Amino acid sequence: MTDTLYDRANAAAEFVLVRTPLRARIGIVLGSGLGAFAEQLADATAIPFADIPHFPQSTVPGHSGRLVLGTVAGVPVAVMQGRVHAYEGYSSDEVTFPVRVLGRMGVTQLILTNAAGGINPAFHQGQLVLIADHINLTGRNPVAGRNDERFGPRFFDMSEAYSVRLRSLAHDAARSMDSSPQAAETGHTGGHGFRFDEGVYLSVLGPSFETPAEIRAFAAMGADLVGMSTVQETIAARHMGIEVLGISCVTNMAAGIQKEPLSHEEVMETGRAVEARLAGLLRRLVPLVASTATQ
Ligand code: HPA
Repeated sequence: MTDTLYDRANAAAEFVLVRTPLRARIGIVLGSGLGAFAEQLADATAIPFADIPHFPQSTVPGHSGRLVLGTVAGVPVAVMQGRVHAYEGYSSDEVTFPVRVLGRMGVTQLILTNAAGGINPAFHQGQLVLIADHINLTGRNPVAGRNDERFGPRFFDMSEAYSVRLRSLAHDAARSMDSSPQAAETGHTGGHGFRFDEGVYLSVLGPSFETPAEIRAFAAMGADLVGMSTVQETIAARHMGIEVLGISCVTNMAAGIQKEPLSHEEVMETGRAVEARLAGLLRRLVPLVASTATQ
């Protein structure tokens, strides 16, 4: 019997589904230092990646590596607390395997979060930015190779890789985080409410951070954010017809823009400072997405 990627994704999906009565249409991937939301789910079942057949194991500190099935305001979600990256030595198939599994579990909307360096000088450390589009500079593509039509077609459109519809809901959720009368009067999003900027996310392979010359080149290419994840997952999700929303946390300004050297500690530290706000945003966004799901 041939063991195709599709068979392996189905086996993993079945393994997960028999462990929870929940049937999530919304999948969420929590990036570096951004795992708090997974701790807040009701009716939660947490499955370590290590227990799931064929799942890749994360080797990076800050990625706990669990799939948590739970509910937010009664809406079932499947949350990846941590992910694996190509720079750990994983192939595109391995990096995107969890997305394939979420798709086979019935997920139709995927929210990808990540830590990113800010290239756009208007951005600042600690800001959450919606991904409007991406540039894939990893040199990899998860759909290169023989196509399995059971996942999706050989060729597919990427002109709206990040759903305009989901971005609009994310803007609504961010605004709604401050519903004080004063904020409504002045238009100032004080308190916890905020206005999302949008930007183009460029992915490198990593794990070395970029040189200042690379960052200047990426800026000239139209990139606002730089990171080491997400684009492979987005491509695999679009292959399967899954709607994608991307949210970057600007954990640092990119090399040459910020004067201090970059470090993983700084990325984790900023992530931890922002993860409560991200969790609050997701708590508002999930019910909005669930109530408007079209697929
Ligand atoms: N570059 C690449 N990936 C990152 C960065 C960065 O500056 N910050 C967080 N992830």
